[in-house]
Amino acid sequence: MHPMLNIAVRAARAASRVILQGYEKLDRLETETKSANDFVTNIDKDAEQVIIEHLLKAYPDHSIVAEESGISGADNSDYQWIIDPLDGTTNFMRGVPHFAISIALKYKDRLDQGLVYDPIRDELFTASRGAGAQLNGYRIRVTDKPDLAGNVLATGFPFKAKHHLPAYTAIFTDLFSQVADMRRAGSAALDLAYVAAGRYDGFWEIGLKPWDIAAGELIVREAGGLVCDFTGGHNHLKSGNVVAANPRITQRLLKTMQPHLGEALKR
Ligand code: IPD
Ligand code: CA
Ligand code: CA
Repeated sequence: MHPMLNIAVRAARAASRVILQGYEKLDRLETETKSANDFVTNIDKDAEQVIIEHLLKAYPDHSIVAEESGISGADNSDYQWIIDPLDGTTNFMRGVPHFAISIALKYKDRLDQGLVYDPIRDELFTASRGAGAQLNGYRIRVTDKPDLAGNVLATGFPFKAKHHLPAYTAIFTDLFSQVADMRRAGSAALDLAYVAAGRYDGFWEIGLKPWDIAAGELIVREAGGLVCDFTGGHNHLKSGNVVAANPRITQRLLKTMQPHLGEALKR
Protein backbone atom coordinates (compact mmCIF):
# COMPACT_ATOMS: atom_id res chain seq x y z
CA MET A 1 0.00 0.00 0.00
CA HIS A 2 1.19 3.53 -0.79
CA PRO A 3 2.63 5.04 2.45
CA MET A 4 0.30 8.07 2.30
CA LEU A 5 -2.74 5.82 1.87
CA ASN A 6 -1.49 3.74 4.78
CA ILE A 7 -1.43 6.83 7.02
CA ALA A 8 -4.95 7.70 5.84
CA VAL A 9 -6.13 4.18 6.73
CA ARG A 10 -4.72 4.59 10.25
CA ALA A 11 -6.46 7.96 10.55
CA ALA A 12 -9.76 6.42 9.39
CA ARG A 13 -9.50 3.52 11.82
CA ALA A 14 -8.83 5.92 14.71
CA ALA A 15 -11.83 8.05 13.66
CA SER A 16 -13.99 4.94 13.36
CA ARG A 17 -13.41 4.21 17.06
CA VAL A 18 -14.80 7.67 17.89
CA ILE A 19 -17.76 7.10 15.56
CA LEU A 20 -18.60 3.63 16.90
CA GLN A 21 -18.38 4.81 20.52
CA GLY A 22 -20.75 7.66 19.63
CA TYR A 23 -23.08 5.23 17.85
CA GLU A 24 -23.36 3.18 21.06
CA LYS A 25 -24.61 6.28 22.93
CA LEU A 26 -26.86 8.11 20.49
CA ASP A 27 -28.95 9.46 23.40
CA ARG A 28 -25.94 11.61 24.34
CA LEU A 29 -25.38 12.97 20.85
CA GLU A 30 -25.07 16.77 20.55
CA THR A 31 -26.64 17.95 17.30
CA GLU A 32 -26.57 21.34 15.55
CA THR A 33 -28.39 22.43 12.40
CA LYS A 34 -26.04 23.76 9.71
CA SER A 35 -28.79 24.70 7.28
CA ALA A 36 -32.29 23.38 6.55
CA ASN A 37 -32.25 19.57 6.94
CA ASP A 38 -28.43 19.55 7.23
CA PHE A 39 -26.99 18.51 10.59
CA VAL A 40 -23.64 18.18 12.33
CA THR A 41 -22.95 16.32 15.58
CA ASN A 42 -20.13 16.40 18.13
CA ILE A 43 -19.06 13.03 16.68
CA ASP A 44 -18.59 14.47 13.15
CA LYS A 45 -16.35 17.16 14.68
CA ASP A 46 -14.40 14.84 16.99
CA ALA A 47 -13.80 12.27 14.22
CA GLU A 48 -12.61 15.02 11.90
CA GLN A 49 -10.10 16.29 14.48
CA VAL A 50 -8.72 12.78 14.98
CA ILE A 51 -8.21 12.40 11.21
CA ILE A 52 -6.55 15.81 10.84
CA GLU A 53 -4.22 15.17 13.80
CA HIS A 54 -3.09 11.85 12.31
CA LEU A 55 -2.48 13.33 8.85
CA LEU A 56 -0.68 16.48 10.02
CA LYS A 57 1.45 14.51 12.49
CA ALA A 58 2.76 12.43 9.58
CA TYR A 59 2.73 15.24 6.99
CA PRO A 60 2.91 18.65 8.70
CA ASP A 61 3.60 20.39 5.38
CA HIS A 62 0.39 19.11 3.70
CA SER A 63 -2.83 21.11 3.49
CA ILE A 64 -6.32 20.01 4.52
CA VAL A 65 -9.89 20.71 3.41
CA ALA A 66 -12.40 19.14 5.76
CA GLU A 67 -16.17 19.41 5.88
CA GLU A 68 -16.59 20.70 9.43
CA SER A 69 -13.42 22.74 10.07
CA GLY A 70 -12.61 23.99 6.59
CA ILE A 71 -9.03 24.70 5.56
CA SER A 72 -6.06 23.90 7.83
CA GLY A 73 -2.45 22.71 7.68
CA ALA A 74 0.11 24.30 5.39
CA ASP A 75 -0.71 26.96 2.77
CA ASN A 76 0.08 26.27 -0.87
CA SER A 77 1.14 22.64 -0.48
CA ASP A 78 1.05 20.43 -3.59
CA TYR A 79 -0.59 17.85 -1.30
CA GLN A 80 -4.19 18.47 -0.25
CA TRP A 81 -6.27 16.08 1.86
CA ILE A 82 -10.07 16.22 1.35
CA ILE A 83 -11.98 14.84 4.31
CA ASP A 84 -15.56 13.91 5.16
CA PRO A 85 -15.30 12.49 8.69
CA LEU A 86 -18.83 11.08 8.64
CA ASP A 87 -20.72 10.75 5.37
CA GLY A 88 -24.29 9.81 6.17
CA THR A 89 -24.80 11.90 9.32
CA THR A 90 -28.60 11.67 9.03
CA ASN A 91 -28.36 7.86 9.07
CA PHE A 92 -25.87 7.95 11.97
CA MET A 93 -28.07 10.26 14.11
CA ARG A 94 -31.08 8.00 13.60
CA GLY A 95 -29.27 4.74 14.30
CA VAL A 96 -29.37 3.61 10.66
CA PRO A 97 -26.14 1.62 10.28
CA HIS A 98 -25.00 3.00 6.91
CA PHE A 99 -22.33 5.75 6.97
CA ALA A 100 -18.65 6.12 6.19
CA ILE A 101 -15.42 8.04 6.53
CA SER A 102 -14.08 9.49 3.27
CA ILE A 103 -10.47 10.64 2.84
CA ALA A 104 -8.81 11.64 -0.46
CA LEU A 105 -5.41 13.07 -1.29
CA LYS A 106 -4.83 15.37 -4.24
CA TYR A 107 -1.31 15.91 -5.52
CA LYS A 108 -0.93 18.92 -7.82
CA ASP A 109 -4.70 18.98 -8.38
CA ARG A 110 -4.92 15.30 -9.38
CA LEU A 111 -6.61 12.71 -7.19
CA ASP A 112 -3.82 10.44 -6.00
CA GLN A 113 -5.10 8.38 -3.04
CA GLY A 114 -8.57 7.63 -1.72
CA LEU A 115 -10.37 5.61 0.92
CA VAL A 116 -13.97 5.12 1.98
CA TYR A 117 -14.35 3.19 5.24
CA ASP A 118 -17.61 1.72 6.56
CA PRO A 119 -16.98 1.18 10.27
CA ILE A 120 -20.15 -0.88 10.84
CA ARG A 121 -19.28 -3.55 8.25
CA ASP A 122 -15.50 -3.07 8.54
CA GLU A 123 -15.33 -2.53 4.78
CA LEU A 124 -12.36 -0.52 3.54
CA PHE A 125 -12.50 0.66 -0.08
CA THR A 126 -9.17 2.04 -1.29
CA ALA A 127 -7.45 3.25 -4.45
CA SER A 128 -4.08 4.67 -5.43
CA ARG A 129 -3.77 6.36 -8.83
CA GLY A 130 -2.72 3.82 -11.46
CA ALA A 131 -2.86 0.87 -9.05
CA GLY A 132 -6.51 -0.23 -9.17
CA ALA A 133 -9.18 -0.26 -6.47
CA GLN A 134 -9.58 -2.66 -3.55
CA LEU A 135 -12.13 -3.73 -0.98
CA ASN A 136 -10.35 -5.05 2.13
CA GLY A 137 -7.30 -5.73 -0.06
CA TYR A 138 -9.15 -7.57 -2.85
CA ARG A 139 -9.41 -6.06 -6.33
CA ILE A 140 -12.83 -4.61 -7.26
CA ARG A 141 -14.33 -3.72 -10.67
CA VAL A 142 -17.40 -1.84 -11.88
CA THR A 143 -20.08 -3.97 -13.58
CA ASP A 144 -19.80 -4.58 -17.32
CA LYS A 145 -23.47 -4.01 -18.22
CA PRO A 146 -23.83 -2.79 -21.82
CA ASP A 147 -27.02 -0.76 -21.31
CA LEU A 148 -29.53 0.35 -18.66
CA ALA A 149 -31.73 -2.78 -18.77
CA GLY A 150 -31.57 -4.64 -15.47
CA ASN A 151 -29.47 -1.97 -13.75
CA VAL A 152 -29.70 -1.14 -10.06
CA LEU A 153 -28.70 2.51 -9.69
CA ALA A 154 -28.02 4.58 -6.59
CA THR A 155 -28.99 8.21 -6.16
CA GLY A 156 -29.37 10.92 -3.54
CA PHE A 157 -32.40 13.20 -3.25
CA PRO A 158 -31.74 16.97 -3.48
CA PHE A 159 -32.95 17.54 0.09
CA LYS A 160 -30.77 20.64 0.56
CA ALA A 161 -31.73 22.17 -2.80
CA LYS A 162 -35.41 21.45 -3.32
CA HIS A 163 -35.60 23.97 -6.19
CA HIS A 164 -33.95 21.18 -8.25
CA LEU A 165 -36.86 18.84 -7.51
CA PRO A 166 -38.69 19.29 -10.87
CA ALA A 167 -35.53 18.44 -12.86
CA TYR A 168 -34.60 15.68 -10.39
CA THR A 169 -38.01 13.98 -10.58
CA ALA A 170 -38.11 14.26 -14.40
CA ILE A 171 -34.70 12.54 -14.61
CA PHE A 172 -35.75 9.98 -11.99
CA THR A 173 -38.97 9.12 -13.85
CA ASP A 174 -37.18 8.70 -17.18
CA LEU A 175 -34.33 6.63 -15.69
CA PHE A 176 -36.51 4.55 -13.41
CA SER A 177 -38.65 3.43 -16.34
CA GLN A 178 -35.52 2.03 -18.02
CA VAL A 179 -33.70 0.34 -15.10
CA ALA A 180 -34.57 -2.49 -12.69
CA ASP A 181 -34.54 -0.44 -9.47
CA MET A 182 -33.07 2.54 -7.64
CA ARG A 183 -31.56 2.96 -4.15
CA ARG A 184 -31.25 6.03 -1.89
CA ALA A 185 -29.14 4.72 0.98
CA GLY A 186 -27.88 8.06 2.39
CA SER A 187 -24.10 8.09 1.94
CA ALA A 188 -22.74 9.37 -1.36
CA ALA A 189 -19.24 8.11 -0.51
CA LEU A 190 -20.59 4.56 -0.04
CA ASP A 191 -22.77 4.89 -3.15
CA LEU A 192 -19.62 5.57 -5.19
CA ALA A 193 -17.67 2.80 -3.44
CA TYR A 194 -20.52 0.37 -4.18
CA VAL A 195 -20.44 1.34 -7.87
CA ALA A 196 -16.70 0.56 -7.83
CA ALA A 197 -17.40 -2.80 -6.22
CA GLY A 198 -20.09 -3.71 -8.79
CA ARG A 199 -22.86 -3.64 -6.16
CA TYR A 200 -24.61 -0.85 -8.05
CA ASP A 201 -24.39 -0.30 -11.82
CA GLY A 202 -24.31 3.48 -11.49
CA PHE A 203 -24.86 6.54 -9.31
CA TRP A 204 -26.09 10.08 -9.87
CA GLU A 205 -26.74 13.00 -7.54
CA ILE A 206 -27.20 16.79 -7.70
CA GLY A 207 -25.26 19.26 -5.55
CA LEU A 208 -22.69 17.21 -3.66
CA LYS A 209 -19.56 18.67 -2.02
CA PRO A 210 -15.94 17.79 -2.88
CA TRP A 211 -15.54 15.77 0.33
CA ASP A 212 -18.57 13.61 -0.58
CA ILE A 213 -17.06 12.80 -3.99
CA ALA A 214 -13.25 12.92 -4.07
CA ALA A 215 -12.27 9.56 -2.54
CA GLY A 216 -15.15 7.66 -4.15
CA GLU A 217 -14.32 9.16 -7.53
CA LEU A 218 -10.77 7.82 -7.52
CA ILE A 219 -12.02 4.42 -6.32
CA VAL A 220 -14.59 4.26 -9.16
CA ARG A 221 -12.03 5.34 -11.76
CA GLU A 222 -9.47 2.81 -10.55
CA ALA A 223 -12.20 0.15 -10.70
CA GLY A 224 -12.66 0.88 -14.42
CA GLY A 225 -15.51 3.39 -14.15
CA LEU A 226 -16.07 6.92 -15.36
CA VAL A 227 -17.03 9.87 -13.14
CA CYS A 228 -18.28 13.10 -14.71
CA ASP A 229 -20.78 15.95 -14.44
CA PHE A 230 -24.18 15.96 -16.16
CA THR A 231 -22.72 17.11 -19.50
CA GLY A 232 -19.98 14.48 -19.51
CA GLY A 233 -17.43 17.13 -18.46
CA HIS A 234 -15.10 17.27 -15.47
CA ASN A 235 -16.63 20.05 -13.40
CA HIS A 236 -18.32 17.69 -10.90
CA LEU A 237 -16.03 18.44 -7.94
CA LYS A 238 -17.07 22.10 -8.30
CA SER A 239 -20.72 21.77 -9.36
CA GLY A 240 -21.38 18.69 -7.21
CA ASN A 241 -23.48 17.19 -10.03
CA VAL A 242 -22.14 13.67 -10.42
CA VAL A 243 -22.65 10.63 -12.62
CA ALA A 244 -20.58 7.46 -12.07
CA ALA A 245 -20.72 4.07 -13.82
CA ASN A 246 -18.88 2.01 -16.41
CA PRO A 247 -18.21 4.08 -19.56
CA ARG A 248 -21.11 2.64 -21.58
CA ILE A 249 -23.65 3.07 -18.77
CA THR A 250 -22.36 6.60 -18.12
CA GLN A 251 -23.13 7.52 -21.75
CA ARG A 252 -26.62 6.02 -21.44
CA LEU A 253 -27.26 7.89 -18.16
CA LEU A 254 -26.11 11.21 -19.67
CA LYS A 255 -28.28 10.68 -22.74
CA THR A 256 -31.36 10.11 -20.57
CA MET A 257 -30.60 13.08 -18.29
CA GLN A 258 -29.77 15.61 -20.99
CA PRO A 259 -33.34 16.58 -22.11
CA HIS A 260 -34.36 17.29 -18.50
CA LEU A 261 -31.47 19.55 -17.50
CA GLY A 262 -32.21 23.23 -17.04
CA GLU A 263 -29.27 25.64 -17.45
CA ALA A 264 -28.37 25.30 -13.75
CA LEU A 265 -27.54 21.61 -14.09
CA LYS A 266 -25.54 21.83 -17.32
CA ARG A 267 -22.19 21.74 -15.61
C1 IPD B 1 -24.57 13.58 2.70
C2 IPD B 1 -24.67 12.16 2.17
C3 IPD B 1 -25.96 11.98 1.40
C4 IPD B 1 -26.08 12.95 0.28
C5 IPD B 1 -25.93 14.37 0.79
C6 IPD B 1 -24.61 14.53 1.56
P1 IPD B 1 -23.26 14.14 5.00
O1 IPD B 1 -23.35 13.81 3.39
O2 IPD B 1 -23.60 11.86 1.33
O3 IPD B 1 -26.06 10.69 0.83
O4 IPD B 1 -27.34 12.82 -0.33
O5 IPD B 1 -25.98 15.26 -0.29
O6 IPD B 1 -24.52 15.85 2.05
O7 IPD B 1 -23.88 15.48 5.20
O8 IPD B 1 -23.97 13.06 5.71
O9 IPD B 1 -21.79 14.14 5.22
CA1 CA C 1 -20.92 14.01 3.09
CA1 CA D 1 -20.20 14.61 6.64
